[in-house]
Amino acid sequence: IRTLRPADLITYSVQEELKHGSVIGNIAKDLGLEVGRLSARKARVDMEGDDKQYCGINLRSGDLLVAERIDREEHCGEKPSCVLKFDLLLENPLELHRLSLQVQDVNDNAPVFPKDITKLEITESAPKGTRYRINAAHDADIGKNSVESYILQQNPHFIFSIQTTSAGSKYGELVLGKELDREEQQEMKLLLTAVDGGSPQRSGTVVIHVIVLDANDNAPVFTEAVYTAALPENSPLKTKVITVSASDIDEGINGEVTYEFSRLSDKSRKLFSLDEKTGEISVTGDIDYEEGSKYEVFVEAKDGYGLSSEAKVIIDVRDVNDNAPVIYLKSLSNPIPENVSPGTEVGIINVQDRDSENNRQVRCSIQQNVPFKLVPSIKTYYSLVTTGQLDRELVSDYNITITATDEGSPPLSSSKTVQLSVADINDNPPVFEEQSYSAYVTENNKPGSTLCSVSARDPDWRQNGTVIYSLLPGDVNGAPVSSYLSVNGDTGVIHAVRSFDYEQFRSFKVHVMARDNGSPPLSSNVTVSVFHIGCERQLSSDTVPRQSPSPALISLLITQMLTAQELYAALTIMTPT
Ligand SMILES: *[C@@H]1O[C@H](CO)[C@@H](O)[C@H](O)[C@H]1NC(C)=O
Ligand SMILES: *[C@@H]1O[C@H](CO)[C@@H](O)[C@H](O)[C@H]1NC(C)=O
Ligand SMILES: *[C@@H]1O[C@H](CO)[C@@H](O)[C@H](O)[C@H]1NC(C)=O
Repeated sequence: IRTLRPADLITYSVQEELKHGSVIGNIAKDLGLEVGRLSARKARVDMEGDDKQYCGINLRSGDLLVAERIDREEHCGEKPSCVLKFDLLLENPLELHRLSLQVQDVNDNAPVFPKDITKLEITESAPKGTRYRINAAHDADIGKNSVESYILQQNPHFIFSIQTTSAGSKYGELVLGKELDREEQQEMKLLLTAVDGGSPQRSGTVVIHVIVLDANDNAPVFTEAVYTAALPENSPLKTKVITVSASDIDEGINGEVTYEFSRLSDKSRKLFSLDEKTGEISVTGDIDYEEGSKYEVFVEAKDGYGLSSEAKVIIDVRDVNDNAPVIYLKSLSNPIPENVSPGTEVGIINVQDRDSENNRQVRCSIQQNVPFKLVPSIKTYYSLVTTGQLDRELVSDYNITITATDEGSPPLSSSKTVQLSVADINDNPPVFEEQSYSAYVTENNKPGSTLCSVSARDPDWRQNGTVIYSLLPGDVNGAPVSSYLSVNGDTGVIHAVRSFDYEQFRSFKVHVMARDNGSPPLSSNVTVSVFHIGCERQLSSDTVPRQSPSPALISLLITQMLTAQELYAALTIMTPT
């Protein structure tokens, strides 16, 4: 009852920030599914490892739709490729398709400089060609939607030039094209604009405030161009991550170095702080590996005169096994008929663990005493499969407990109970409580009097277990049995239709059928021997059952309202001793 097809990975492409309801593609067409049956097959989209449902499916058209705002920057940050994975699930028969969605960047972010104003103090003796670092602008978008060029306001002294550090990050430099003269101009303000390459183009600006000094100065120098630090997730607040250090060969105020972040994402801003005196970076937020495993921040070291340099700090977060696996029941055929053959798939389960590597390796098991097992399918999917014959008459409901345990240390586990009912199949015929029945008729029996009753049981459900009694056709002394006896179809009570003539017969046999109301019905037959009890001298020993009268017989005789004499006679005949 299934087709799990791992092979057909289809990739769709969608722009970020599209309106709710925008059509991404037509799933039905691409997968060759019948559109008219999508609804009956409960087609649905399941995002991987995310609570948000970014896509939906129009069950009438088979269109894949945007169901929630998709922000590329939120998902993928600076990653050049942004892919969301999801599954398409169908039932009857179960079918699973892996799909992925490539989110395209749109130019929805403008370049931003770390500060609105940056101060630069420059000695008047600085020679032509001296370069001064300016922090680059940052644009959360990627590719051509990120910063493309800079435009410096026209001025007689400086030109702007873009540089790339050995670590690959970009910064700008003001290059002195014509010497400054403090006596002529003590300060100047220059507007620097960063523009991105998107359409429409977006821009950001910074004011460079140049103050002309008459002292010599050197920029601070970091001990490393790139610092790396490792940090376990869930590290408590104030945990020290790393200390950066820059030195300045100048003396006094010119040699006093202070530190600040020159570029960091909004996310990093909430997690880390930098001591501006010591250069120590410490934890100020909740470090969650699942939210981010790597952070890159830039630190600027500045001396008293505003000369600065920059270093990059890479912080790698290490995973800790802090997420238990989660078991999702993706599909369940419930109830299942009791006659399904062993090996039938009744459900699909998916197990996810948000941790990484060993911490996300999950083993799944099922409790011992049920006729079901889990069979690993593609990726983290398992099929729930029957291992033996089911019998509703023995066990009609199962609570199947599935446990998932990861391989972290210590391992974490979780479990889920799946309730499954077994549906009836008409697989039991009614069975009579006795192998055969005997009825005793007194000579002067009245029409309509009760002779005996038969009873059969059928353990099936409802109509499959409802028993109906009937007399099988036959004849007694050339007359149909139905002219002598009748059986109540519901109760199995056998009545005399008329008075019997003892002279005609002393005993005869009839056959009663018990049939259930299933489709097709099942039945069993039983023989009822009818003995005609006259007075003592009329009975010969071969018709007398050699057994003690059963309580049923005694009560039968009583209900026939025999006289005390007759009762005595009947009982002595039954027990000749
Ligand atoms: C299964 O669990 C339900 C709910 O906990 C309970 O009512 C039911 O009796 C259980 N059935 C079996 C067969 O254990
Ligand atoms: C009786 O059995 C038949 C199959 O033999 C099944 O289709 C039907 O659903 C059963 N009826 C009930 C009430 O369970
Ligand atoms: C009972 O007898 C009837 C009539 O002869 C027959 O059709 C039916 O198959 C019998 N049932 C069984 C279980 O033998």
